Amino acid sequence: MSTEYRIGNFKVVVADDEAEFDRLAADEVTRLLQQKPEAVLGLPTGSTPVGLYAELRKRYREGRISLRAATSFNLDEYVGLAPEHPQSYHAFMQEHLFGGIDLPKERTFLPEGIGDPQLAAARYEELLAKYGPIDLMILGIGRNGHIGFNEPGTSFKSGVHPAMLTQSTIKANARFFASEDEVPKQAITMGIGNILAARRIMLLAKGASKAQAIRATVCGEMSEQVPASALQSHPDVLLILDREAAALLVADQEAGASCRIG
Ligand code: GLP
Repeated sequence: MSTEYRIGNFKVVVADDEAEFDRLAADEVTRLLQQKPEAVLGLPTGSTPVGLYAELRKRYREGRISLRAATSFNLDEYVGLAPEHPQSYHAFMQEHLFGGIDLPKERTFLPEGIGDPQLAAARYEELLAKYGPIDLMILGIGRNGHIGFNEPGTSFKSGVHPAMLTQSTIKANARFFASEDEVPKQAITMGIGNILAARRIMLLAKGASKAQAIRATVCGEMSEQVPASALQSHPDVLLILDREAAALLVADQEAGASCRIG
């Protein structure tokens, strides 16, 4: 059974195991689709949402959900990778989610990795304005607290923009490429302003390597040095964590210590 905490404006749910984690995240999407079949979803990539996407594919196969009327906007895409490139986020989404559900292709949006990045960012901003606001923005988190590819120092007001990846993010993402040199240095990402404009936000984090970033997000000073701390200003944020990612947060709660750090 999961454990729930209310810390500041965050609802925090700590899952007991991986299966429960994915189920809880999928339940949020399922509930939204039941209430609003034409919902607009914001979607992340990375290893964290892979289980959620598998669970959504399964629920679709079982006839429990349909995304026929929904729309999706991915957070980001690498600059320089064509949609067919196996490491592009286009390809990732096709493999892990879009290929196994009924979301119409013409309503699955990702920034274009090929072509002028400034133009691609402006086009994506227009699409978001046309279809938005996003009903449920699903996020992963980087070890340094980045969301999308909004690295430390990004303005909380930022819109869609080309962004340089930090060395630590390049290193962390190198596991998906043949070598670190092949990881693109730039991406087009929704800005923090776009993320905060969503009606509801669900941030997912798994593993001990995220524990520090999660604690800083929830209990640290709201600072552009920790991009995810911007979520402290949003009225409806749900965090789904595994025990490892929640460890530092939960230790404070159980010791009765104040959440505030920094
Ligand atoms: C990338 C993505 C982020 C993601 C992060 C964490 O940098 N741009 O959206 O949250 O990686 O990935 P993982 O879930 O693999 O830890």
